[in-house]
Amino acid sequence: MIRTPLTELLGIRYPVVQAAMGYVSGPRLAAATSDAGGLGLIASATMTLAELENAISETAGRTAAPFGVNLRADAPDAAERIRLIVDRHVPVASFAQAPKPELIAALKDAGVVTIASVGARRHAEKVAAWGIDAVIATGGEGGGHVGSVPTSLLIPQIAAAVDIPVIAAGGFFDGRGLVAALAWGAAGVAMGTRFLLTSDSPVPDAVKQVYLAAGLDGTVVTRRVDGVPHRVLRTTMVDHLEGARAGAQARAGAQARAGARAGAQARAGAQARAGARTGTGWLSGPRRAAALVQSARNATTFRAAGGLSWREMIAQGRAMRRDSELTWGQVLMAANTPVLLRAAMVDGRPDLGLMSSGQVTGLIGDLPSCAELIEAIMTEAGDCLDRLEALRKT
Ligand SMILES: Cc1cc2nc3c(=O)[nH]c(=O)nc-3n(C[C@H](O)[C@H](O)[C@H](O)COP(=O)(O)O)c2cc1C
Repeated sequence: MIRTPLTELLGIRYPVVQAAMGYVSGPRLAAATSDAGGLGLIASATMTLAELENAISETAGRTAAPFGVNLRADAPDAAERIRLIVDRHVPVASFAQAPKPELIAALKDAGVVTIASVGARRHAEKVAAWGIDAVIATGGEGGGHVGSVPTSLLIPQIAAAVDIPVIAAGGFFDGRGLVAALAWGAAGVAMGTRFLLTSDSPVPDAVKQVYLAAGLDGTVVTRRVDGVPHRVLRTTMVDHLEGARAGAQARAGAQARAGARAGAQARAGAQARAGARTGTGWLSGPRRAAALVQSARNATTFRAAGGLSWREMIAQGRAMRRDSELTWGQVLMAANTPVLLRAAMVDGRPDLGLMSSGQVTGLIGDLPSCAELIEAIMTEAGDCLDRLEALRKT
């Protein structure tokens, strides 16, 4: 047994948290993790309020152990989501990005344990001052939206700066990592990619196989998806997005800025119109998903080639919509990351979708159940502590 301030705070057997993953960490994965003695988190940002309500009921039906809901403080219906968490007696709420003091207070007043995700010391200090109960600090190795500071530097820095439990994330997959995190001053670990690659994860097998085949250099941090650094599996589509940037920069160097914008607008407008003709319903079939990806490429190329800000792009989108048959939905969906994630994680199309991934995917080669995974981690952590203790005696 390894008891830490985190296991005490949450009332869980093991200091292992399953990090929130959109379209991946629903009731099945969260309940399997909690049932195995860790903490499962339902990712709610990609769910409607009604879907979240069902997910909470289903998770509570699958496990009697504590679990949590991960939410965005800037969701338009954040207050309703919090009311749902409180009414349904969900023991833990975690914030995907910056929380708000009043939301933390509302949860804490109702006895819900609050956790915030942070990527920098100043964020950890700020949320600790707002009364948050624990933080998940994620280093640059992690999957999804990431900062640039490696886990090995970020965790000791944050653990020294705040008095609340720090949950280390970014690159963890085994018992050695858990011991390392504890040595850095953390109270436990959170893992995303490792839990995605379990038999309890709902991700289609074809997609899991792509993750398993990736090496340590199989991921890339790109801003091309949604404008902020996002670690994803390196695929043909991501290479294309990155390539479009290089091409756009070269063109921008060769052409006058205004000329480039006009050219990009014309090209993207023509491409988007062509894409729009291939289908109007999203994600109900491979051709429609392909049209969506084409549309996303168009939007991104459109923005990059002209050196446009998103504000300018929206203005251009308005113009596009005025003089073409594109709907607002199509214009906006063109840059819609969740839809691209969904194409892979739910529809099982690794060729069409985006796959957020930590670098750790390059060290993972199996698909254990959550129970097998957590047991293996705890056994290895115990062995590791014994080995270290033996070093002291010799
Ligand atoms: C497929 C995938 C989807 C993710 N989706 C979300 C999300 O919806 N919200 C969120 O806050 N973080 C999300 N993340 C980030 C994770 O919560 C976590 O920070 C990260 O996976 C930790 O790094 P690791 O993958 O090396 O364990 C996602 C990560 C992955 C791999």
